[in-house]
Amino acid sequence: MAEANGNNGSGLGAKVAERATKMWDNTRNSQAWNSIFRPGSIYRKGYTDSPRNRSYVIMNSVLFHLHPVKVKRHAVKVSYTLCLGGLSFFLFILLTVTGIFLMFFYRPTATEAWATVQDLETAVAFGSLVRNMHRWGAHLMVLSVFLHMSRVFYHGAYKSPREFNWVIGVILLLLTLLLSFTGYLLPWDQLALWAVTVGTNMMGYTPVLGNQVRFVLLGSKEIGNDTLLRWYVLHVLMFPFVIVIFMAVHFWRVRKDGGISGPL
Ligand code: HEM
Repeated sequence: MAEANGNNGSGLGAKVAERATKMWDNTRNSQAWNSIFRPGSIYRKGYTDSPRNRSYVIMNSVLFHLHPVKVKRHAVKVSYTLCLGGLSFFLFILLTVTGIFLMFFYRPTATEAWATVQDLETAVAFGSLVRNMHRWGAHLMVLSVFLHMSRVFYHGAYKSPREFNWVIGVILLLLTLLLSFTGYLLPWDQLALWAVTVGTNMMGYTPVLGNQVRFVLLGSKEIGNDTLLRWYVLHVLMFPFVIVIFMAVHFWRVRKDGGISGPL
């Protein structure tokens, strides 16, 4: 009787399997699924293998589309660019991640800054490691951006049609140096204090507007709490935000200028 009703163990199993298959098919044919997984994704085949369709696969995937559809053979040769632009970008990501970690513990006030840095060094799990990754990463980024610029210059890649991207590059170099200098003050140790005192005093010798320039940089008549807060906001928010915008334009321009320049 039970068998006739299909209620025995194997009959039930088959029914569940059939239901599951139907649900899976319905899901994969649904509008939601098809709008998330575009043709060419590993979850949605749909392209036959042809040069044109290979391009579609790259263009339609959120991750693949970061790469160009085609690259010149010399452009993927590590010895041509030494990957210095990519390295600079990698270091920026590393600095962002380690910087966010540091922000959980650091307090930008004249009385607490140095103490919280000491806590990071001695009491916070992985604090010393992450702080050093941030510090060394910053030095390395200045170096790699400078070497990247030298490589571009050596290959004459600043010439037409890449002169606009060279100018964007100069702004990126400037922003990298500004990030480095504003970060230098944050530990509020003797080294930082006097480096910034010397730097802002030098800016005070700007013709005509010297005093005003110095006041804007210090946020006060002399270095103190206001300077620290000002430079902290510039370091963790303003300059990273601006540099990300310029990097996006820089990468977009590399693609628009026909990829990496050819060998001389
Ligand atoms: C935050 C700083 C920077 C980042 C993350 C960055 C990133 C990159 C990347 C990934 C590339 C393509 C691959 C390569 O050439 O390595 C590139 C190309 C280029 N960069 Fe930069 N860059 C930066 C700063 C600069 C600076 C300071 C200059 C010059 C003043 C510059 C000028 C150029 C030019 C002209 C190209 C095209 C090179 C070619 O076609 O051979 N960049 N950059």
